[in-house]
Amino acid sequence: MTLNNGLKIPAIGFGTYKAGFSDVISRAIEAGYRYFDTASFYGTESLIAEAISQSGMKREEFIIASKLWKGDMGYKATIEAFNKTLDSLKTDYVDVFMIHWPRPDLTLKDWKALDLETWQALEELHEQGKIKALGLSNFLPYHAENILNNCKVKPSVTQMEFHPGYTQAFALNYYRDKNILVQAWSPTGRGRVFQDELIIELSAKYKISPVQLCLAFCLSEGVMPLPKASSLEHMKANLESVNISLEPEDISRIENMPPVGWSGEHPDRVRVKI
Ligand SMILES: NC(=O)c1ccc[n+]([C@@H]2O[C@H](COP(=O)([O-])OP(=O)(O)OC[C@H]3O[C@@H](n4cnc5c(N)ncnc54)[C@H](OP(=O)(O)O)[C@@H]3O)[C@@H](O)[C@H]2O)c1
Repeated sequence: MTLNNGLKIPAIGFGTYKAGFSDVISRAIEAGYRYFDTASFYGTESLIAEAISQSGMKREEFIIASKLWKGDMGYKATIEAFNKTLDSLKTDYVDVFMIHWPRPDLTLKDWKALDLETWQALEELHEQGKIKALGLSNFLPYHAENILNNCKVKPSVTQMEFHPGYTQAFALNYYRDKNILVQAWSPTGRGRVFQDELIIELSAKYKISPVQLCLAFCLSEGVMPLPKASSLEHMKANLESVNISLEPEDISRIENMPPVGWSGEHPDRVRVKI
C-alpha cells in the first residue's frame, strides 16, 4: 500500500498487543512480516528491537509503527515519550507514529487544544526526520476534523476497530474521502465473530478459515489489517489472505450483516466489559 505521503508499506501488518515475547516477533519476521504495530502501552517496543537485531536484517527493511499513550499528551510530554519510544526501539526514527486515543479521559473538556498541542509536537518530529508518517488512532471523524482543519502535516493513517460485524462505515468512508489509510485493529474481533452464521457459511464456501475471511474482507475494503498471532502456522495462514478474493455479493453481505463482536471500546464511552 502507498500512503498519502508516498511511503510504501506492506498490505498486512503484525499486531503486537499481548505478543509478550521476542520469539513471537522473531517468528513473525520468519513468516514474512515486515510491518510491526506497537505502542508504548503494549510494552512490546523493546521486543521488536531485540527481534530485529537478532534477525541480522537492516532496520530499514522494516516498517515500525508506534503510538503515544493517553498520559503522554501535550507538547513537552509528547517529545519526552517519543524519545523513550526511540530508546525502547533502539532506532533513531519511527516510520509511523500515532496518537493512541483522542483524549486522555472522558471528563477533559478541552481535548481539542490538547490534541493540537500534541500534533504540533509530532509535526516537529516529522520535520526533523524522526517520524516518516503521522497517524491517528481511535479518532472519530469529529475528532479528526480538529486536526485536519489546523494541521501543517496531514495524518497518513488512522486506526480503528474494524472487522465483520463492526465496520464503522461512516468513519471508514470519511477517511477514504480524505485519502487517509484505515488500519483495522482486532481485524478478527479476537475471535468473537467466528460463530456468526454468515462467517461460517462464507468460510466454508471459499474453503478458508474464519480468520482468513476476516482479513480478506479488510483488504477488499482497502483497509490494512493488523492481525496478532502466536504460532508460525497462524502467521503464515494470515499472510496468505492477500491472495483471497471475495465476490462483490459476499462483500456486500458482510458489510450489511447484523452487528457482532464489538470489543466494548469506544473513544466517547466508558469501556463496556464484553
Ligand atoms: N489502536 C488501538 O487502540 C488498538 C486496539 C487493539 C488492538 N490494536 C492492534 O491491533 C492488533 C490486532 O488486534 P487484536 O490482537 O486485538 O486482535 P486480533 O488480531 O483480531 O485477534 C488476535 C487473536 O486471533 C488469534 N489468531 C490469529 N491468527 C489466527 C489463525 N490463523 N487461526 C486462529 N486464530 C488466530 C490469535 O491467537 P494466537 O495468538 O493464539 O495465534 C489471537 O488470540 C493488536 O495486536 C494491536 O497491534 C490496536
